[in-house]
Amino acid sequence: RVATVNGNGTADLVIVANRLPVDRVTEADGTPGWRKSPGGLVTALEPVMRSNDGAWIGWPGSTDEEMEPFVDEGLSLIPMTLSPAEIEEHYEGFSNGTLWPLYHDVVAKPAFHREWWDSYVTVNERFAAKAAQVAAKGATVWVQDYQMQLVPAMLRELRPDLRIGFFLHIPFPPAELFQQLPWRRQILEGLLGADIVGFQLAGGAANFVRLVRQRVGHKTHRDTIYLPDGRTVRAAAFPISIDFTEFEELARSESVSQRAKQIREALGDPETVLLGIDRLDYTKGITPRIRAYSELVRDGHFDVEDTVFIQVATPSRERVDQYRALRDDIDRLVGRINGDLGKIGRPAISYMHSSYPRHEMAALYRAADMMVVTPYRDGMNLVAKEYVACRYENDGALVLSEFAGAAEELRQAWQVNPYDINGMKATILDAARAEPKEVTRRMRAMRKQVRENDVSQWAIRFLDALASVPHDHGKTVRP
Ligand code: G6P
Repeated sequence: RVATVNGNGTADLVIVANRLPVDRVTEADGTPGWRKSPGGLVTALEPVMRSNDGAWIGWPGSTDEEMEPFVDEGLSLIPMTLSPAEIEEHYEGFSNGTLWPLYHDVVAKPAFHREWWDSYVTVNERFAAKAAQVAAKGATVWVQDYQMQLVPAMLRELRPDLRIGFFLHIPFPPAELFQQLPWRRQILEGLLGADIVGFQLAGGAANFVRLVRQRVGHKTHRDTIYLPDGRTVRAAAFPISIDFTEFEELARSESVSQRAKQIREALGDPETVLLGIDRLDYTKGITPRIRAYSELVRDGHFDVEDTVFIQVATPSRERVDQYRALRDDIDRLVGRINGDLGKIGRPAISYMHSSYPRHEMAALYRAADMMVVTPYRDGMNLVAKEYVACRYENDGALVLSEFAGAAEELRQAWQVNPYDINGMKATILDAARAEPKEVTRRMRAMRKQVRENDVSQWAIRFLDALASVPHDHGKTVRP
């Protein structure tokens, strides 16, 4: 698997992301190995980059081992080391203790620490310097997500010849919340180093443009920002997606069908299986979802003899306080619900704190009559789209939070407000009792939407927009 990337400054397409698409792990027998990294960013970008022979700069996960660049199935991977202090201050601290809650509507309280900010700057500088080193003349560099928001401006300073794109995978908050950030101006200026700043939704792009006008004082018109040096920056929506065909094919495969059957058998062949799959994160609304479901069981609308809720929570950011507390809360809640409502061999909630490979995920999607996705706030939510892609028989009900980015596209889902427990209960019941014809009508429409807007469309749209930026970065086009 390991081969050295030959020479520097030769890559025509470079991704800069906090994480590499693979994570360095220690196998059970103590030997080092690799595993696909968690989260939506990698899920979306990996297939695109493999088919483009790009270079990917990122952190291989919690290890302080220095690693040489290597090529993995046509993709040059350039590992960046984070020191233990940087993991604490840049990654767990500023990225996931400050920006993550702030950008998700402050559903948890963001912490503001000056040392965290300093570390964020240092790490962004190092990633920008690496990109400047590996990018060929006139190359395209595509910077990803909230951990890297200063890279565009830092990189432009070092390499004005590059086309620079930035895409934010998480929500961009309303000005009223963003304003809390002591370093709000630096973040906005960091992003303005890009030619195109992409968001999941038009609302995020509008929030950004408004903030730039109010806080930085640049002139703006619709989606365009006019900088004093004559350069223009475009802010636009590029809703991310999944590899629809890959998921559908996986779901149709014999081994996934078998596994889906096995899963239902192992649960005692219930009539109805409901499913939730999330990173274990306080933005995902896992607690209100299982509370709503448990009340439906308690009230007699569902019977544990013939219905089960499978909840998979993928371990995530386990050293961050809020994530630890959430895990304990969910453990306790699920334990209490099963203690109160379960019967021998029949838990109300079948709970797994574990991450599974794609094959097992596809089998779970196939085994589930209903998928329940109820984040308080989510940039997109690819799990909802994966479920849709796997339901090739046009059956299966999707219950979806109106606060997930995906709700703008998946209009035919049963939409819910995760803050409204009674509303959620009523909607879950509606979805469970819907006529098969109704379920099919909705699923068919959603499948069409995801099929026609898959991840390669997303990447093509973004990269085409970036390619059409004039070589002088718009400097000759005046408002
Ligand atoms: C979300 C973020 C990604 C992040 C992923 C996993 O999808 O948008 O940037 O990589 O979560 O989180 P982690 O902290 O493990 O990288």
